[in-house]
Amino acid sequence: MYRTNTCGELRLADAGKKVTLAGWVQKARKLGGMTFIDLRDRYGITQLVTEDDPGVGREWVIQITGEVVERQSKNPKMPTGDIEVKIEKVNVLNKAQTPPFTIEENSDGGEDLRAKYRYLDLRRAPLQRALALRHRLAQEIRTYLDQQGFMEIETPYLIKSTPEGARDFVVPSRMNPGTFYALPQSPQTFKQLLMVAGYDRYFQIVRCFRDEDLRADRQPEFTQIDCEMSFVEQEDVLNTFEGMMRQMFKNALGVEIANPIPRMSWYDAMDKYGSDKPDIRFGMEIHEVSELVKGCGFSVFDGSEYIGAIAATGCAEYTRKQIDELTEWVKRPQVGAKGLVYIKYNSDGSVKSSVDKFYTPEQVKAVAEAAGAKEGDLVLIMCGPKRKTQTQLGVLRIEMGNRLGYRDPSVFAPLWIVDFPLLEWSEEDQRFYAMHHPFTAPKPEHEQWFYSDRKEDLERVCANAYDFVLNGTELGGGSIRIHEAQMQSRMFDVLGISKEDAEYKFGFIINAFKFGAPPHGGLAFGFDRVCALFGGQETIRDYIAFPKNNQGRDVMIDSPSKIDQVQMDELFLASTVKE
Ligand code: AMO
Repeated sequence: MYRTNTCGELRLADAGKKVTLAGWVQKARKLGGMTFIDLRDRYGITQLVTEDDPGVGREWVIQITGEVVERQSKNPKMPTGDIEVKIEKVNVLNKAQTPPFTIEENSDGGEDLRAKYRYLDLRRAPLQRALALRHRLAQEIRTYLDQQGFMEIETPYLIKSTPEGARDFVVPSRMNPGTFYALPQSPQTFKQLLMVAGYDRYFQIVRCFRDEDLRADRQPEFTQIDCEMSFVEQEDVLNTFEGMMRQMFKNALGVEIANPIPRMSWYDAMDKYGSDKPDIRFGMEIHEVSELVKGCGFSVFDGSEYIGAIAATGCAEYTRKQIDELTEWVKRPQVGAKGLVYIKYNSDGSVKSSVDKFYTPEQVKAVAEAAGAKEGDLVLIMCGPKRKTQTQLGVLRIEMGNRLGYRDPSVFAPLWIVDFPLLEWSEEDQRFYAMHHPFTAPKPEHEQWFYSDRKEDLERVCANAYDFVLNGTELGGGSIRIHEAQMQSRMFDVLGISKEDAEYKFGFIINAFKFGAPPHGGLAFGFDRVCALFGGQETIRDYIAFPKNNQGRDVMIDSPSKIDQVQMDELFLASTVKE
């Protein structure tokens, strides 16, 4: 036997036992003629002690045999802190080069270095905890969905383009010169085909690929908990997955989430939070104040479609400098606002604003109160086109929430966003895009607008689409689908996709709908995001064993990389990149 116990297992009750342990040397230090070694494996750390110096270095892999003894000076912070193992025999299993950074709770290595030696970083406890949480959650998901009668079915990775709105990663085909597979942005069309095939409850924990700009919560390859159900309405889908989330929170974190999970329409979310993924752990809602401020001679407001405000709690004391800094902050391209008007609602009840010369103090106070301000608050006002301004106020609201410490990662506030518009008009392209994806069905009561040719009618159509939002992050989304060939063709029409193009790209699914497609719907959660948020983080990278960096590179294996000319030729590829 290589080991009788793990490095996280031994307790005082084991004193006197003879044990064999194997693991990595986290550190070895000499103290008064004794050598103490911290031996680590994924279960924990056990202290070893010996009178002879075994001459081992950091990260050497060793096997030791010895007796468990009670420690002189105990360490209450370690589960094994009451004991140590008196070494009788050391067997060096493998030496190690000195690692490029410390492999401890907090490493001294920078991000790039740790990415290059990811396998060493993965030895660290925080990453081990993250992957253990991921594993736990995956088990919970499988157990729950299995109990609910879902079947796990794999779908192919070498497919044809899927319409999730990002760029595809493509793979050239050697056997079919000049043609390409696309890697799935999601298994969307396949899960719908499985419904046509009669597998009425499907799920898959599945890799998806999207060639898009990366952010803290985005990776080019990521994992979805992908689900689809037949013979269901929106209510059935929401209840099923509310149940899954509730069980995951309870079993993995011991947390009871709101029951039922609140629901908010997309329109309310935009109006009150300036976001389709509102963080409802705190208030500071957006209020429209257009009526109160227009027509008083302040031309910036007078010429704006919409004027909205938030009240930053207790910030009336902000100095000129702080307000200037905040104004610069909203002017950054990431927010894109033109400027910021403020009202200080002072604790003595007086008001002071940057537009005092256009309004009486009573008017200013009325605006502050309409924005929900109390004495001591700072009202922040923006103006412009309605949705754009709301979005900017939404970004500012989150920033103020961060600054004010309202976004505690150990508080969980889930909600469903429902009643999404089906379509989104693009001024730039002068065409409609599907807000979710082109397989999403209009609400039955809005069908007459869906078949209308007027832009205003089409803009009014809502979808039976829904997103699951947690703490300001979109964790998942889905919809009730179109299941009739005729309606699906109409959808492609509305989206300006020609008959030929629709036939070329989606002929298989339109065709399948002609063979008895049942009503169906589903959703997908971003599993990496679920793991990160459950772990109290916003960055998903630590919850993925081998992630890519911000440039989409894996610096450990040095990928993407060039392929040799033979491979290029076999695939009929020619590069236009200049050396
Ligand atoms: P959607 O495109 O909304 O829906 O994706 C579902 C969820 O996947 C996660 N996600 C990502 N996570 C990490 N990195 C990315 N690049 C990334 N992109 C998306 C998000 C998101 O909520 N087929 C539909 C689902 C359906 O209709 O059933 C779909 O893919 O958490």
